Amino acid sequence: MAYGLLKGKKGIISGALDEKSIAWKVALKAKEEGASIVLTNAPIAMRMGEIKKLAEACEAEIIPADATVVEEIENLYTKSMEVLGGKVDFVLHSIGMSPNIRKGKAYGDLNYDWYMKSVDVSALSFHKFLQVAEKMDAINEWGSVVALTYMAAQRTFPFYTDMAEAKAMLESIARSYGYRYGKLKKVRVNTVSQSPTKTTAGTGIGGFDKFYDFADKIAPLGNASADDCADYVITLFSDLTKMVTMQNLFHDGGFVNTGISEDVMGLLD
Ligand code: NAI
Repeated sequence: MAYGLLKGKKGIISGALDEKSIAWKVALKAKEEGASIVLTNAPIAMRMGEIKKLAEACEAEIIPADATVVEEIENLYTKSMEVLGGKVDFVLHSIGMSPNIRKGKAYGDLNYDWYMKSVDVSALSFHKFLQVAEKMDAINEWGSVVALTYMAAQRTFPFYTDMAEAKAMLESIARSYGYRYGKLKKVRVNTVSQSPTKTTAGTGIGGFDKFYDFADKIAPLGNASADDCADYVITLFSDLTKMVTMQNLFHDGGFVNTGISEDVMGLLD
């Protein structure tokens, strides 16, 4: 059911790779809620062609940008403002990638060039999205910027390796830039810490199926799906949450505050 929460708003949504992507669901719901959007992803992701289906469904333009390259982000904002007819009201950062995870490297055997790449793609890119937006004055007052994160920033998950540090940095950028952008333009910046979700990025992590099931058994509400996540992100783009900023918001069915559950205790009998 649509509520018109984003009626008249304009936004940029990154990271929709295929229909499992969290960003894919956010894009569909943003459209449903009345927003006009632009889609973006790394040029290499375009080759897979899936995003074109989403663009059709959302009546959205696709503007390719590698999130690590400042000039490409500048082009993204310039073209977005042209296409959408003005500054944007919301931005979704839904970008993560670790070459060390892709290659199955253990935490004690990380390749440091790849480590830098993980941090650049998954965390620094968020700062770049914000800094470029500020310099170009591309986000309207009371705008909202959201990035997706995972709880490995606070607690250790052995197979998450260098992405744990990348997410910790991402969450810190939300606080630091949230302060700055709030003072400057009343723009809010938050991270949403999502349950394990069966997407390309998610299932690439070693042992994913097991920790997906474990989280599902710990959380009293079970794991939050990508669709649920999209609903939550839409509220953060809407005016109903305009005083929420600099937060890391857990969207995980209650996992983060549960020590042990009866379901998991049952497994130990
Ligand atoms: P996904 O694989 O569908 O999305 C990741 C996206 O990052 C892809 O669209 C990919 O093309 C994009 N990307 C990678 N390098 C890029 C670059 N240089 N420039 C621009 N885009 C680039 O997977 P998912 O799960 O939807 O990931 C979205 C976000 O959600 C990520 O930040 C991820 O860490 C986060 N997240 C995912 C969870 C999960 O279990 N799937 C749990 C918590 C957070």
